[in-house]
Amino acid sequence: MDIISAIRARRSIRSYKRKSADRTFLMKMIDAARLAPSAVNLQPLEYIVVDDETTVSLIFPHTRMGALLPPQKRPSAQERPAAYIAVLVNKKIMNSGYEYDVGCAIQNILLAAVAFGLGACFIRNIDRDEIRDLLKVPADYEIDTMIAAGYPAHVPVAEDTQRDDVHYYLDGSGVHRVPKRTMERVVHLNRF
Ligand SMILES: Cc1cc2nc3c(=O)[nH]c(=O)nc-3n(C[C@H](O)[C@H](O)[C@H](O)COP(=O)(O)O)c2cc1C
Repeated sequence: MDIISAIRARRSIRSYKRKSADRTFLMKMIDAARLAPSAVNLQPLEYIVVDDETTVSLIFPHTRMGALLPPQKRPSAQERPAAYIAVLVNKKIMNSGYEYDVGCAIQNILLAAVAFGLGACFIRNIDRDEIRDLLKVPADYEIDTMIAAGYPAHVPVAEDTQRDDVHYYLDGSGVHRVPKRTMERVVHLNRF
């Protein structure tokens, strides 16, 4: 798959099939993150791959997906991902200003997932203290983000919108729709 097709196909996946994700794919996703741009090339990020089913099910209640959806439409434990990737910041390497590194690395992970037929979701709405205990993360590491990964059980659709309301929503058929501001609204040519 070419990169533009992967960018267009990628959506945040919040409902997963009960099928394990090949660890080789998860490692290749992290390899893609490892090669991402990094300020001053400091590379403060490390990762925990969680593909053990018991640990995944213990983490699930400490991650919140789809907060904009009505509570009964948010993913249930049966829809949980096959794996998580915890994105850690080594605070001994970089104590502030690492957010751009995190964004670049995670987008590489999300796009690599698409290349392997996997879905993924960037999750920052998480219980960091509980996850730190579960994964035995040392105090000098920040848990920035949890990435859910697995085989998609739904097909969200991106749609151009002219409206100011860009909240994602479920349509009457239960399709998850993601409004994206149009090119005309976001591009300024030569001057504002
Ligand atoms: C910094 C950041 C934090 C996010 N945190 C969450 C989260 O905690 N839970 C969640 O379900 N989605 C989260 N998302 C995913 C966004 O909701 C999603 O990217 C957005 O709705 C657009 O949908 P798309 O990714 O399918 O294009 C996060 C995305 C970003 C960039």
